[in-house]
Amino acid sequence: MTTAALPVTEAFFTDPYPLYRKLRDEAPVCRVELPDGAPAWLVTRYAEVRALLADPRLSVDKSNGNGSWRGFSLPPALDANLLNMDPPNHTRIRKLVSQAFTPRRVADLRPRIQSTADALLDALAGHSEADLVRDYAGPLPVAVISDLLGVPEADRHEFRSWTDTMFSPPPDDRAAAGRAVRTIHAYLEGLLAAKRAQPADDLLSALIAARDDDDRLTEDELTSLAFLLLFAGYENTVHAIGTALLTLLRRPGLATGPEHLGATIEELLRYEPPAPVLLRRFPTEDVEIAGVTVPRGETVLMVVGAANRDPDAFAEPDEVRPGRSGSHLTFGHGIHYCLAAPLARLELEVAIGTAVRRFPRLRLAVPADELGWRPSYRTRGLVALPVLLD
Ligand code: HEM
Repeated sequence: MTTAALPVTEAFFTDPYPLYRKLRDEAPVCRVELPDGAPAWLVTRYAEVRALLADPRLSVDKSNGNGSWRGFSLPPALDANLLNMDPPNHTRIRKLVSQAFTPRRVADLRPRIQSTADALLDALAGHSEADLVRDYAGPLPVAVISDLLGVPEADRHEFRSWTDTMFSPPPDDRAAAGRAVRTIHAYLEGLLAAKRAQPADDLLSALIAARDDDDRLTEDELTSLAFLLLFAGYENTVHAIGTALLTLLRRPGLATGPEHLGATIEELLRYEPPAPVLLRRFPTEDVEIAGVTVPRGETVLMVVGAANRDPDAFAEPDEVRPGRSGSHLTFGHGIHYCLAAPLARLELEVAIGTAVRRFPRLRLAVPADELGWRPSYRTRGLVALPVLLD
């Protein structure tokens, strides 16, 4: 069997879409070698990706893998999270936490998200230039998820730098990722102990009560859930805001007025998903995908970045057309569908709407082809977004 290596070139990180197109057209179920040397199957067409995300034969539980997946190694106290669980444990924990993210609960967060966005942009007033990733797209989601969970203000900056190191350790110090994980673990244990001693009106205190009073989750599950909410609440949203702003700056004609903003954001989410490759899945039996048999236990990666641009699902998919029909897969599909999609949409709406209102002459400070992208096939995010403000 031929196994092509997934490229780790700057050209691929800058623009992965030509490769996605080639895979979709020529090898929609393709065995590749990942940058860490592990083998995996990439699935790139919309129909298969969507069907597989709802297929119970694909498990996210690593014990169903054949051991070839290397991935990220976490201690048990962080690993017992929703993204590694199948039903029934997944169902139990998801139910517990999903009440915090209903559309009504999320709508209540709007004023606080708005005031955070305003304060971040106030801090830029009078400056002629800014890096909107560092100064805006980064701090906003950290503040939002920290407010929700009850992470004290003083700890937020550090949390961001640990998360960045965990996901993108410096190339000359890969061990930094492991150190960052240990630091986050120790931090979360301290935070949970503090909340236990002094409960407050926040989500972490509510989850602690669900553990201690009702015994509805184990201690490892509690710490893992806090970990997942913190990093899931941050990582994807930062990149989504950054790339959405870039697409808007490159297409100044896109409508961003209040009545059009929702549709524009939905289309930007389709166009540039911040997590173009979803979580690894392991078939619990041999499965046939578009005529190809994928053996049990091998790694399957759903490439939503490719599926979202499948011309069989979206006409002229490389065009940005707010209001088009069809539903993108940026938030996943099936039982692991993003728990906080309403919150993510609200954050994007406030972030983008406020930035363009506040700085109507916002434009790129460097040519778009000089922008740096995260060197990861799983993350679509800008390293920095230098802009001129006035
Ligand atoms: C634009 C921003 C976001 C995007 C694109 C996004 C995308 C996703 C995707 C694709 C999944 C499913 C992964 C898979 O099936 O492999 C997911 C799951 C999840 N997301 Fe988000 N997410 C975003 C923001 C957030 C925020 C703000 C939170 C807040 C806490 C969050 C919490 C979660 C959680 C807890 C899960 C796990 C759900 C489960 O396994 O049942 N996400 N997200």
